[in-house]
Amino acid sequence: MIVLKNVSKRYKSGTMALSNINITIEKGEFVFLVGASGAGKSTLVKLLLKETEPTQGRIIIDNQNITKIHRRMVPYLRRKIGVVFQDFRLLPNKTVYENVAFAMEITEATPKEIRRNVPTMLGLVGLSSKAKMYPEQLSGGEQQRVSIARSIINNPPILIADEPTGNLDPETSWEIMRLLRQINRRGTTIVMATHAKEIVNMMQQRVIALDKGEIIRDEKRGGYGYED
Ligand SMILES: Nc1ncnc2c1ncn2[C@@H]1O[C@H](COP(=O)(O)OP(=O)(O)O)[C@@H](O)[C@H]1O
Ligand SMILES: [Mg+2]
Repeated sequence: MIVLKNVSKRYKSGTMALSNINITIEKGEFVFLVGASGAGKSTLVKLLLKETEPTQGRIIIDNQNITKIHRRMVPYLRRKIGVVFQDFRLLPNKTVYENVAFAMEITEATPKEIRRNVPTMLGLVGLSSKAKMYPEQLSGGEQQRVSIARSIINNPPILIADEPTGNLDPETSWEIMRLLRQINRRGTTIVMATHAKEIVNMMQQRVIALDKGEIIRDEKRGGYGYED
């Protein structure tokens, strides 16, 4: 589903954010990307979203070499990848329902499909009763659920989450992890960048550890390890 071959990223500033990264992620995997601040996790996420380009190497997503595709095709790539961030990034002037519906409106979804799918999705993330609320009226955990609902409403094969629990308390973080695991069990490939040690240790999923832009560990059922 995701292949990185000899990928390096050197920013204009001269920082070597990633050095010769090789990763293969199969369909349906749940992968933690761990490492201290500055290790290169977000850079890797940005490369997968084609928000930035590698200095070297190839990135293949769903059998497509994304380092080769035209700028015009980037929106189609993005439809294959749902994205969740630490800071939720919801539209403040839209309700919960509208935030999720908007993600369908920008595809070719019909009003009928939107009316059918959005309530189902809000049910899946446990927010049916909050459909008419605005983001500022929700707790952090609820806002992250809206963000997750929006990220998967168009059924992308891949979900990428960059520190999705970074702004949440431990209990709320676990609720978000349960939801992500449930989404993964439905078949979505998940890549989650995090430095939440306890979560990584409890989940017992694949762990790819980065340190100063290099992979120092890639374990099938790993823990966070002893860094930092
Ligand atoms: N846009 C940028 N320009 C220059 N350097 C950057 C940029 N983004 C990140 N970096 C640097 O690249 C390295 C990796 O950063 P990042 O990928 O954000 O790590 P992480 O998400 O693991 O904290 C750091 O040294 C950081 O300062
Ligand atoms: Mg980061």
